Amino acid sequence: MLAGNSIGKEFVVTCFGESHGRCVGVVVDGCPAGLPLSKKDIQREIDKRIPPKSAIVSARREKDVVEILSGIFNGFTTGAPICTLVWNQEAVPSEYNKIRQIPRPGHADYPARIKYGGFSDYRGGGRFSGRLTVAFVMAGAIAKKLLGLVGVEILAYAAGIGKIKVEKKLTIEEIRRSTYKSAVRCPDLKCAKAMEEEILKAKSEGDSVGGVVECVALKVSVGVGEPIFDSLDADIAKMLFAVPAVKAVEFGAGFEAARMKGSENNDTYAISSGKVVTSTNNSGGVLGGMSSGMPIVVKVAIKPTPSISKEQRSVNLPKMKETLIQVGGRHDPCIVPKAVPVVESAVATVLADHMLRAGVIPKVLKEKK
Ligand SMILES: Cc1cc2nc3c(=O)[nH]c(=O)nc-3n(C[C@H](O)[C@H](O)[C@H](O)COP(=O)(O)O)c2cc1C
Repeated sequence: MLAGNSIGKEFVVTCFGESHGRCVGVVVDGCPAGLPLSKKDIQREIDKRIPPKSAIVSARREKDVVEILSGIFNGFTTGAPICTLVWNQEAVPSEYNKIRQIPRPGHADYPARIKYGGFSDYRGGGRFSGRLTVAFVMAGAIAKKLLGLVGVEILAYAAGIGKIKVEKKLTIEEIRRSTYKSAVRCPDLKCAKAMEEEILKAKSEGDSVGGVVECVALKVSVGVGEPIFDSLDADIAKMLFAVPAVKAVEFGAGFEAARMKGSENNDTYAISSGKVVTSTNNSGGVLGGMSSGMPIVVKVAIKPTPSISKEQRSVNLPKMKETLIQVGGRHDPCIVPKAVPVVESAVATVLADHMLRAGVIPKVLKEKK
């Protein structure tokens, strides 16, 4: 039985590395041969994960220069597994000596210590660190390139941070143009300012805030997804729940649908420019586990960063005594800005897998003459 480090059936993604180990990387197996792919394509996505230097981001600033070790020849994928990684260069493991004995609230320290008999790499959260999401983004970059062949575009943005929410109806063009103009990754730039203030306020109190990332996938053809157990929404949710700090996933109207009448929630059909469309999209683009042809809309709740400088209660495990802990290290007072490209990548990875399975993306790309 394999451990849970891989996801996907045709586009199989395996991630490796630890926060304070030598590197973080990914092996992507099943990417068709003939896809033009360069280091630049992956680096561009990785760079999106690093918000501009400011008080709202952690002092740990890895350069994250992408290396591709295999699977690419003469600028095209070969059909062999693609291995790509970044080296960890800014790790300061000594910051984490204390957590060997005293687990940090909100982190995986305690269950990991019990599950792996004390052998797991605890430095910076080891395998459970948000740093592992660099691997998600590398896989997502390859998936996005593949999805680009069939015109699929995936856009995520910060829809809420702490108590600040985007109230305005955003156009796709606004999301496309403005998300990465703001440090918090919110395309409503007025709202982005208020979000930054919300983060700074929490930080000044030795605390942190969470938020909501919304993701839209455009031009996914009808019928992608393999019901019953490999339905599209189930697989997207599975991948999203692998992102550390994700606590809820909602498609379309989500929990709000529970409060609607059938007549309000049903997305009625219509014809537009010769195509079947729905007048609303409360289903979030998924019906019966298959894409409906409407945009796939998914919201993700991100919890507040668990590492906070405020003193908290914990236990000293060897002594079996209650104690206090003050968490050191370098942390983001809000995870949302970094999570935006991660969510985009997670959705892209699952869509690439399912579009290969559905035959929408060919398993062999035509040779360029
Ligand atoms: C992109 C990203 C960055 C993160 N950075 C931090 C961080 O700087 N400090 C921290 O305490 N948690 C951070 N986390 C969250 C923790 O890794 C996560 O909450 C913890 O491992 C427990 O897992 P769980 O919240 O999924 O249960 C980050 C998560 C992501 C997705």
